[in-house]
Amino acid sequence: MCNKKLPDRVCDSEEFNCFGMLSFEKNLDGKKPAEIIVEWYREHKRDLPWRRNSDAYRVWVSEIMLQQTRVETVKPYYERFLKEFPTVKELAQAQEDKLLKLWEGLGYYNRVRNMQKAARQIMIDYQGEFPDTYEEIRSLKGIGNYTAGAISAFAYGIPKAAVDGNVLRVVSRITGSRGDIMKQSVRRKIEEELEKIIPRDEASDFNQGLIELGAIVCLPNGEPKCRECPAASFCEARKQGIITEIPVKSKGKARKIEDRTVFVFKDGKKLAIRKRPGRGLLAGLYEFPNEKGHMEIDEASVYSKKIGLMPVRIKELGHAKHVFSHIEWHMRGYEVIVDELEQANERGYLFILPEEIEQEYPIPSAFEYFTRYAGIVK
Ligand code: ADE
Repeated sequence: MCNKKLPDRVCDSEEFNCFGMLSFEKNLDGKKPAEIIVEWYREHKRDLPWRRNSDAYRVWVSEIMLQQTRVETVKPYYERFLKEFPTVKELAQAQEDKLLKLWEGLGYYNRVRNMQKAARQIMIDYQGEFPDTYEEIRSLKGIGNYTAGAISAFAYGIPKAAVDGNVLRVVSRITGSRGDIMKQSVRRKIEEELEKIIPRDEASDFNQGLIELGAIVCLPNGEPKCRECPAASFCEARKQGIITEIPVKSKGKARKIEDRTVFVFKDGKKLAIRKRPGRGLLAGLYEFPNEKGHMEIDEASVYSKKIGLMPVRIKELGHAKHVFSHIEWHMRGYEVIVDELEQANERGYLFILPEEIEQEYPIPSAFEYFTRYAGIVK
């Protein structure tokens, strides 16, 4: 809530303390806070692969990969992806299995499916040239305010804000805002307010400065390194001693728990996998056959026969858990040595050598416990 009454400014947000944006407007030794952040960034930025080339396509690839994924994890994926798909055109023409294979392990596979849809849109609507206005970029499939802001600012110097979770935390702390950062209205307000103060010629370094501050200094979970922070002198949360209380973040819905039984069917060296449906969770990826519920060993045997795979020997593989954004799989596994495979192919089971699976078939990390067991190296 806005609780300060300042005559020269109207705060129209119920939740975001936009008077706090004044902390960005203070003049400190003749420098504005935005300038201080830009200077700090130039001096302290990490040398990251996607910072060496600000081509819009490359910025796009990195920013999509960096959503929900750590910098260190993204590095090798970024290099491999650009080697395989150096331009929008190659991405637009990519085969789906190859695309998913390159994304294997990053998760949130819709990100890369949407990238391909957007690449096809760019081929048709912009003759393969990445568009260069915020509105056009924002209209592409899978590109929201954050990514459109990041591409606009990093590649073209357009003064748009790029507000992700890190930036929400940094700005909430600097301004002392107790607005709930899970609320769209608060995010929008922060974007609007930032866009008023982005230095016109330094949109890229200002936005990246806020991102970098969130990544290496203004850390979450009560661990900010305020002594290293260039914003310490104008940070409201620090001044008021409320740094551990900010950002305010309401809890999302609890994740649904789903029990599943996973089968590693083996015929000699070959393993059974199947393709998941084209829609929904992990769409189009390959998986070990699995069913809802936890089966006991005798039920697993009955099930194997029912699907046409005659069990010769069954072994328990133990339990594994995978956490998605809205659901958790609690898995129990069996290795089943089988013969009589006649019906199996008809039912969509493919028996493939582990080396071949490794090379060609994208299997999501939800099954990592079982792929490791089966000797599939990622
Ligand atoms: N997280 C999101 N975008 C980033 C970027 N460009 N550099 C480092 N971390 C990021």
